Amino acid sequence: MCPPEHFRVTYAINPWMDPAKPVDLPLAVTQWQALRDRYRALGHTVDELDPHPDLPDLVYAANGSTVIDGRVLGARFAHPERRPEAALHREWHLRSSGAAAPVYFREPEHVNEGEGDFAVTAGFLLAGRGFRSSPLSHAEAQEFFARPVIGLDLVDPRFYHLDTALCVLDDGRDDAVMYYPEAFSPGSRTVLARLFPDAVLAEEADALALGLNAVSDGHHVLLPREAGGLFGPLRERGYDPVPVELGELLKGGGSVKCCTGELRS
Ligand code: ARG
Repeated sequence: MCPPEHFRVTYAINPWMDPAKPVDLPLAVTQWQALRDRYRALGHTVDELDPHPDLPDLVYAANGSTVIDGRVLGARFAHPERRPEAALHREWHLRSSGAAAPVYFREPEHVNEGEGDFAVTAGFLLAGRGFRSSPLSHAEAQEFFARPVIGLDLVDPRFYHLDTALCVLDDGRDDAVMYYPEAFSPGSRTVLARLFPDAVLAEEADALALGLNAVSDGHHVLLPREAGGLFGPLRERGYDPVPVELGELLKGGGSVKCCTGELRS
């Protein structure tokens, strides 16, 4: 995670961002710290990436890389405003030791925005395309991780990254996800229905609260508290929803998942 000390909205690269809308920075910091402390209270280790004064979106740490079994695929950002973030993530990985030390780091050839568009299940990599990550990055990821990649077409600009429209609930399984069908093309919707017949399907209001921008450890699901419609279906399937307040970070177009890069080392 990267602290939001320099978070602000000065450019707009997704429909959520409005530079005219003020951000309450102290509140953003408090909300972010509460998320970090919640992870720690649940027994997870949280490492921090140093914030950078010129890179307000660095707080969305999920976009900087994808890590599976210590193999790190670096990011290459679609928009010039975010491009320099990739090198900071790379340096962080290459400096890491202990459990977070990378086995292998790959500098990507094609545009991919990390876990913004890559979601990991037990055996597959689900991969979004349409707004940010290049379809060519899907083949690159399949070759690098040696896992089948399932490409999914995003069609609604409000759900510009896969992680705004779909969340893997248990990465030890291949069938546990929640998603918002309308964010996907008709063909991709059918693919999702085939692969995930028991998925939690989100209603528009919960998707618009970025309720799918959630992080699950296989039991606890941390998600924006405004996405209350998802709590019941999650409980029915045995998960424990943990509501989180991240309203200031929503102004940049992100919530829980965007703020969290997962190190599957
Ligand atoms: N303002 C950032 C952007 O548009 C938000 C990124 C959100 N991150 C995510 N994983 N969806 O790039």
